Amino acid sequence: MLERKNTIPIWVWIVGAVLVIGCIFAGYRTIETRQRLEAVKSKLVSVKHSAAKTAAEADAQINELQIKVNQATSEIGQLRINLDTAQSQLKQWASSLETMRSELESAKQSAAKTAVEADAQINGLQTKLDQATSEIGQLRNNLDTAQSRLKERASSLERMRSELESAKQSANRAVVEADAEIMTPLEREASTPKGQLKSPFRDFASVAEEGRRKYMAAGCNGCHGGGGGGGMAAPLTNPIWIYGDDDDTLFRLITLGTGKLSPDDAFKKHGYKRKGSEFVVGPMPHFGEIIKTDDDLWKIIAWMRTVHCSRRVEDRC
Ligand code: HEC
Repeated sequence: MLERKNTIPIWVWIVGAVLVIGCIFAGYRTIETRQRLEAVKSKLVSVKHSAAKTAAEADAQINELQIKVNQATSEIGQLRINLDTAQSQLKQWASSLETMRSELESAKQSAAKTAVEADAQINGLQTKLDQATSEIGQLRNNLDTAQSRLKERASSLERMRSELESAKQSANRAVVEADAEIMTPLEREASTPKGQLKSPFRDFASVAEEGRRKYMAAGCNGCHGGGGGGGMAAPLTNPIWIYGDDDDTLFRLITLGTGKLSPDDAFKKHGYKRKGSEFVVGPMPHFGEIIKTDDDLWKIIAWMRTVHCSRRVEDRC
């Protein structure tokens, strides 16, 4: 132990020296570190201050933001409601569009079906039209035939018409000639030489009734009685013929009248003279123009002859 106290080994020195140096260095380092920490601390303090400030500002901003967030939230809620409404609206629209689409689809299908049916009908009609056209053609041919036949018929009718026309003309001529044949008793008397007037009626009885009517119409009955038996003038039924009983004498007597009642005394001038005499003696008026035709007068004379006593079975003269 002593040895050790006496001699301090070198290595202790060295170690001591190293320790001393180390301590010095460590002390220095500690100071330096302390200073550095101080600086860091003050920096941290200022950082802390600014952080506090920033935190307050951040709080305020956070508050503002919170308010905005709240507003935004409520707006979003509103918008969501609106969106929901819009969505349900859209859903309704979509379903009604779907309905429309399906209706249109069925309409399209039925239209397509109708179009097909219409095509078929059009085809049918076209066929009928073709048939009708050919029938019309046939009818047109028939009509042409009928028309040409009618033309023939018309031209033969035209021929008949012209034949009838000429027949009518000759008939008219015949009537005019026949008219020329008809004369008043006066004309007939004047145009016929004495003694040649002759009744066309051989069969008195056949025209007697007609003659009686004309006798009455002319008014002969006023003087000679309805049955010709006489009155204020001579009877036509008795056997006496004052001037004669032949056709010519009787025709001229009735036509011209007698005595003063005969124009220009024509009857007497013809040379007729009274042959017999009746209880009534006077002139007889002339009837040559009162009686319209010689034919009528011949009928009256025919009737007179039928009532004359020479012809009556029951009452002979
Ligand atoms: C106004 C009277 C009167 C009328 C109307 C009259 N007569 Fe006479 N008729 C006489 C008289 C009168 C005599 C005699 C004439 C004579 O002696 O000259 C007569 C004579 C006659 C005779 C001759 C008779 C004989 O016995 O020979 C005949 C026929 C006759 N009349 C026919 C007719 C006819 C027909 C008519 C009608 C168309 C007619 N008379 C109208 C007055 C009339």
